[in-house]
Amino acid sequence: MESVSDLLTAATAIARGAGQTLLSQFRKNIQISKKGRIDLVTEMDLKVEKAIVDQILLKFPDHRVLAEEQGSRGKDGPYKWIIDPLDGTTNYAHGYRFFSVSIAVEREGELILGVVYDAVTEEFFSAVKNQGATLNDQPIRVSDEDQLIDSLLATGFSYDQEEIKSNLELFNRIILHSQAIRRDGSAALDLCYVACGRFDGFWELSLKPWDVAAGRLIVEEAGGSVTAFSGSPSTLYARELLATNGKIHPAMVKMLTPDP
Ligand code: IPD
Ligand code: CA
Ligand code: CA
Repeated sequence: MESVSDLLTAATAIARGAGQTLLSQFRKNIQISKKGRIDLVTEMDLKVEKAIVDQILLKFPDHRVLAEEQGSRGKDGPYKWIIDPLDGTTNYAHGYRFFSVSIAVEREGELILGVVYDAVTEEFFSAVKNQGATLNDQPIRVSDEDQLIDSLLATGFSYDQEEIKSNLELFNRIILHSQAIRRDGSAALDLCYVACGRFDGFWELSLKPWDVAAGRLIVEEAGGSVTAFSGSPSTLYARELLATNGKIHPAMVKMLTPDP
């Protein structure tokens, strides 16, 4: 078994390096192509992901890696790394400064660590299972807000038109019961903002494991709640996710699962 501190040291160095590489090409002339009608991929998604995966497999040749662009690689065993090399590709491609690198590790199916790095603001979020969450090495906690009407919320919209329409229905309902809603375009960072109390809650309909693996552990370790819209436990591989400070969770569940 690897020590968690060795894994954290490696994840930290790899995420920081990846973030610096992204920043070095931010607002430069890079190649951008389309995976779908509105779903972009830049040359930096591919380059940075390759660098991350190569470094992990060089250091931990017995581990498995699940990364957004390359899919699953490596050997089956207790450890699985889950990687989004660039969460916020649309932002990055447009020169909008909200994007991150997200890296998490599962051991025997349980998330044991997560790191999210925003190279623009130099904010480094991390969490280790049962050891709390930090921002630039300082402990963080979710907010104390218990009223939905005083809550700042965040959501995201997938690249699928039907999912966008479904989330617009939720958005229309929730905006009338909350203080405001932001849509900033990096689910990993949205979750970290819940963890450090900037947002009181976040929901999204169609997320992938690499969008949320690190961020959900960071929220939980900061004292927040992460579930399905119904309030029941959700796995990393479920598409919908509700993350809050815990206090507004019942009110958000009500908003997301209205009576038919
Ligand atoms: C996207 C971002 C966005 C969310 C989308 C994700 P990508 O990831 O996290 O905030 O709304 O659902 O797909 O494509 O930029 O890695
Ligand atoms: Ca993503
Ligand atoms: Ca991505």
